[in-house]
Amino acid sequence: CQPTPRRCLVTAGPTYEAIDPVRFIGNHSTGKMGFALAAEAAQQGAEVVLITGPVQLHIQHPNITRIDVVSAQQMFEAAMQEFPSCDAAILSAAVADFTPTVVANKKIKEKQSSLTIELTPTPDIAMHIGAIKQPHQVVCGFALETHNALEHAQAKLSKKNFDCIVLNSLTDQGAGFGYDTNKITIIDVTGKTVEYELKKKTEVAKDILLILATLIQTKN
Ligand code: C5P
Repeated sequence: CQPTPRRCLVTAGPTYEAIDPVRFIGNHSTGKMGFALAAEAAQQGAEVVLITGPVQLHIQHPNITRIDVVSAQQMFEAAMQEFPSCDAAILSAAVADFTPTVVANKKIKEKQSSLTIELTPTPDIAMHIGAIKQPHQVVCGFALETHNALEHAQAKLSKKNFDCIVLNSLTDQGAGFGYDTNKITIIDVTGKTVEYELKKKTEVAKDILLILATLIQTKN
């Protein structure tokens, strides 16, 4: 039995949603967790498709195909294209939930007393992947919650049809955006919840892949 995914989709980093030719709405994601996951999965022998938003990271491994995207819409299109040929998806990207309804074709002038930008929801990549997931495929989502974390993460797991969800801490020292360390809790589809110590993202990636391997085994 092959516990590591054979072909694994990883989404990573932020998305940038253009306001005008020079401005965008973004977030603080650096892509470190997603890149650590891609590196570890490749190291374990998986073919990895890494779809990443704009990040300052480099990765080179013969098993990794990197697809660079900018917006949520582009990440959605790439993910929908790649997911059917994968047996696992790890959705660690911090995808923007909203995007400007209209992108100004010229730089918006500063001499205005106020400015309102109308936003439209982006496609929920995780939700679409969860909806087309086949019985042999496993999907791991991420959640960053500020209150009632476990409850919200569990609700997200069922709503998006994940097999497991990684709950990220924003409050623990050294965890989350930009750090090389993370403190996570993984909840699986049976409700099993494991809380991990603060550790390097490279080590966190091993923990996540181990859970994924267990979930793959139960499906085969
Ligand atoms: O709902 P929320 O954004 O907290 O969900 C987090 C999970 O959903 C993450 O795995 C994230 O990558 C994924 N997601 C997505 N597409 C979106 C929004 C979130 O894939 N548009």
